[in-house]
Amino acid sequence: MAMLKLSLAFHVLAFVLFLCFTMSTGSYQYFQFVQQWPPTTCAVSKQPCYQNPPSIFTIHGLWPSNYSKKAWVANCTRTRFNNSLAPKLEAKLKISWPNVENANYTEFWEREWNKHGTCSEQTLDQEEYFQRSHDIWNAYNITNILKKANILPNGAIWNYSDIVSPIKTVTRKMPALRCKPDPTKPKNHKISHQLLHEVVLCLHYKGRALIDCNRTACDNNLKILFQ
Ligand SMILES: *[C@@H]1O[C@H](CO)[C@@H](O)[C@H](O)[C@H]1NC(C)=O
Ligand SMILES: *[C@@H]1O[C@H](CO)[C@@H](O)[C@H](O)[C@H]1NC(C)=O
Ligand SMILES: *[C@@H]1O[C@H](CO)[C@@H](O)[C@H](O)[C@H]1NC(C)=O
Ligand SMILES: *[C@@H]1O[C@H](CO)[C@@H](O)[C@H](O)[C@H]1NC(C)=O
Ligand SMILES: *[C@@H]1O[C@H](CO)[C@@H](O)[C@H](O)[C@H]1NC(C)=O
Ligand SMILES: *[C@@H]1O[C@H](CO)[C@@H](O)[C@H](O)[C@H]1NC(C)=O
Ligand SMILES: *[C@@H]1O[C@H](CO)[C@@H](O)[C@H](O)[C@H]1NC(C)=O
Repeated sequence: MAMLKLSLAFHVLAFVLFLCFTMSTGSYQYFQFVQQWPPTTCAVSKQPCYQNPPSIFTIHGLWPSNYSKKAWVANCTRTRFNNSLAPKLEAKLKISWPNVENANYTEFWEREWNKHGTCSEQTLDQEEYFQRSHDIWNAYNITNILKKANILPNGAIWNYSDIVSPIKTVTRKMPALRCKPDPTKPKNHKISHQLLHEVVLCLHYKGRALIDCNRTACDNNLKILFQ
């Protein structure tokens, strides 16, 4: 009997420790903060964008992620988006986080929260998730960093390192780029470049300090067109 009680106590303790562990480490390892270049989003979109895309990098999303490539952290079953952001924050998000593909802003925010934000809710609730994203966007102006390095959307072609190095100089951490195939190239034409689509900054689990990114979505063998 005493043995049984001891065993039970041990299991309860183990379970509590397990809970503490999963609550502190959560279900992801770091964040990818993804900003898109809207003209490329519109160029590769299946439907035409509803208006001229803004020529500044805008937020795509804040994605809780794991280092392992196959472990895509998404679609967690926590609180759904309830569209109760403070009006002041909403006004700011309309600039930093517009829906460039259609006019319904909340639809884009809802999609990003439900797919990604729900997986980091233990760290950032809805208000914090959107506020933090806006703050990072504001703190590291990618459009301005590239402009100062003379990397302008004028159709010039770059090496991957040409684009990441001025960003790294400012942020002190390695960003990552995401590219898209150029849809204007005929299918079997020998493709010599890809389009710059997104810039990723990586953040520590808590979503504050920047860390190095080490995952890219560009083809290593192709140059990058920024237009
Ligand atoms: C991501 O990593 C966390 C912590 O290591 C783990 O608990 C979780 O299961 C992983 N998620 C996926 C989708 O692999
Ligand atoms: C999450 O859900 C979206 C929308 O339903 C889907 O496109 C995506 O493949 C899902 N991702 C994962 C990792 O389950
Ligand atoms: C915008 O999207 C939200 C969330 O999907 C939806 O509830 C709302 O009805 C949409 N608004 C309009 C004007 O279509
Ligand atoms: C929306 O969800 C948040 C948690 O992310 C909660 O704090 C807030 O009270 C909810 N608002 C409404 C109107 O349900
Ligand atoms: C970011 O930089 C661009 C280009 O210099 C500038 O037009 C824009 O106002 C800046 N945005 C913010 C939020 O500072
Ligand atoms: C791009 O990289 C290639 C190969 O590493 C190098 O020869 C070339 O000088 C680079 N171009 C620029 C503009 O830096
Ligand atoms: C990325 O960095 C993390 C943390 O330093 C490391 O665990 C992981 O193996 C790296 N992944 C790749 C593909 O280099």
